[in-house]
Amino acid sequence: MPFIEHVWDLDLERLALERVVPALLVHGFCYVDGLLGEPAGDLVLEQVMEMHRSGALQDGRLAGSVPGGVHRSRSIRGDQIAWVSGSEDRGCEAISFLLNVIDHIIGVCASRLGSKKIRERSKAMVACYPGNGTGYVKHVDNPNCDGRRITCTYYLNKNWSAEEHGGVLRIFPKGKSYVADINPLFDRLLFFWSDRRNPHEVQPAYATRFAITVWYFDSEERAEAKTRFRDLTASGLQPGSSSR
Ligand code: OGA
Ligand code: OGA
Ligand code: MN
Repeated sequence: MPFIEHVWDLDLERLALERVVPALLVHGFCYVDGLLGEPAGDLVLEQVMEMHRSGALQDGRLAGSVPGGVHRSRSIRGDQIAWVSGSEDRGCEAISFLLNVIDHIIGVCASRLGSKKIRERSKAMVACYPGNGTGYVKHVDNPNCDGRRITCTYYLNKNWSAEEHGGVLRIFPKGKSYVADINPLFDRLLFFWSDRRNPHEVQPAYATRFAITVWYFDSEERAEAKTRFRDLTASGLQPGSSSR
């Protein structure tokens, strides 16, 4: 259906230019509802639920070692995760489609978000908060220039009620007098600057909460971070895994 695809590309382009770019420049974050539509969103949700059922999701890790080990870690972040490249042989077609859509939007935004170059991204992190009252304490994804510039999180939760299920993503925009509470609703895509402008937390979740996150890199900062990382390795110091 090349015609429909073409129209859809134009829609994504408009979305990027008219909503995402201005919101990122003014507020530093932005979300879009009904990104894929129900049928395609359902396919993504099914793939994520299948990963969850099959045990593919493992406890999320923290940067470096945490005194107190896994129990202490769990009190910081209680999610279970897996990394998906989208090019897996089978079982990730819908996720791969989602990643193409997000790439397309960011591709349109990239040259309009200042002089920095955004060309690559991380793999996709599929995350499940199991609903046992864990969340993720207030943090900055990229506090120390590891290259990550934009965080994109796609939510997958139908019939989510913040009052009943918690799990709200709260952003504390730096230097602003307000916070932004974002419910992790089905087919919602959130964008925000990954750096210290956006400390955020996932409030305790009391129902299974699914999301997929990708991070887009500033090429220059990423290259510098890789050089630092290499120097650290060469010096024999043990580098911690990158923090989120
Ligand atoms: C993270 C994170 C937010 C969310 O994984 O770093 O902040 O809403 N997740 O799941
Ligand atoms: C930070 C941070 C807290 C705040 O910038 O690293 O956590 O409320 N800031 O701005
Ligand atoms: Mn985060």
